[in-house]
Amino acid sequence: VFVANATAAIKLVGEGLRDYCDAIEGRLRYAYHKDAHNSLVGVREFAGAENTRVFGYDSEVDEWLNTPSSTTTSTDSNDITLFAYPGQSNMTGQRHPLHWLKGAKKLPNTYTLLDAAALATTKQLELSWWAPDFTAVSFYKIFGFPELGALIVRKSAAHLLARKKYFAGGTVDGVTIFGGKPSRIRRESIHEQLEEGTLPFHSIIALDHALETHTRLFGSMDRISAHVAALTRYCAAQLHSLTYPGMSQKLCHIYTPHSLFSHNSSLHGGTIALNLYTCTGQPIGYRSVERLADSKGIFVRSGAMCNPGGMATHLGWSPEELEKVFEAGFRCSKPIEVWEGKWTGVVRVSFGAASCRRDVDRLVEFLRRSYLGGEMTVGV
Ligand SMILES: Cc1ncc(COP(=O)(O)O)c(C=O)c1O
Repeated sequence: VFVANATAAIKLVGEGLRDYCDAIEGRLRYAYHKDAHNSLVGVREFAGAENTRVFGYDSEVDEWLNTPSSTTTSTDSNDITLFAYPGQSNMTGQRHPLHWLKGAKKLPNTYTLLDAAALATTKQLELSWWAPDFTAVSFYKIFGFPELGALIVRKSAAHLLARKKYFAGGTVDGVTIFGGKPSRIRRESIHEQLEEGTLPFHSIIALDHALETHTRLFGSMDRISAHVAALTRYCAAQLHSLTYPGMSQKLCHIYTPHSLFSHNSSLHGGTIALNLYTCTGQPIGYRSVERLADSKGIFVRSGAMCNPGGMATHLGWSPEELEKVFEAGFRCSKPIEVWEGKWTGVVRVSFGAASCRRDVDRLVEFLRRSYLGGEMTVGV
């Protein structure tokens, strides 16, 4: 189903399941992993707080899959549980186990939503093996262009989206508007039922060219995956080695080192989340790092990355502390970068198919020169 972006794909699943549950007078239950982008977190509003569970750790998911609790699965045949998580964290690059998708299918009335927006940029999607019911992707994150996304629906789960209340031009084959019970005939195929209004046809045509060009330039996704994994590990090792001269104080605090430094590339994608310390171990504001990098033509992103669960756990924020920092005026768009000695966001370095070793060297040289007083050996 062509949609604008991964967010629209995720929302479509949330709306579809909500309307399905309304139609059969059941409840929608939502279980998701904390490492979710806000686009996935927002689905909780369709289920309601009492029907939502967030897993704080991978072990909680494993436990749930082995011994599901009544708050997230139900044997009432009218209740539906949606289990959602990102294949790869947009904040840290950590990849989450794809066997969860298979595990969840064994639970009663449970369906799965894989947010593959970050994962699909550097990994081949193997949907027949993983078996998610719904998969959300943004094509521009893979190819750079066109601005288009898709929801990939497993046929056995398509009926869940077929009760969507809203209809529009393109989704119906006949409508009556007069009389006591106006009716409508839905179109036959699931994508026709869900693609509302005029499709972004130029983008759909362009997608064909994007696929062809991408293959011509880079070969297979497996090659990209291997290249990006090697580059990311090389970069992480370089960053890890940066130390203030004559001191033991490291420059970088690197998040999720376990998956990042692993040689198993299925555990981590092309993203490194980090923060910087001063020589006395004080936190340096992440925005200031981004600004300085920008001024040197090096583009990193900084902030909480629309990933509130990642921010809470990796940066160590309790819900009470978060309330306080919001009261103090923190906004994602206008951050207080460090509050009571703690970062409120990270610096994120990302690599893709087009990145090369020189990009890593430039970044490392930039950090060395800007913060450690080293000599620049690679042109910035
Ligand atoms: C893991 C993940 N999910 C969802 C999204 C939202 O994607 P989009 O803005 O294309 O809808 C992003 C965006 O960066 C993401 O990284």
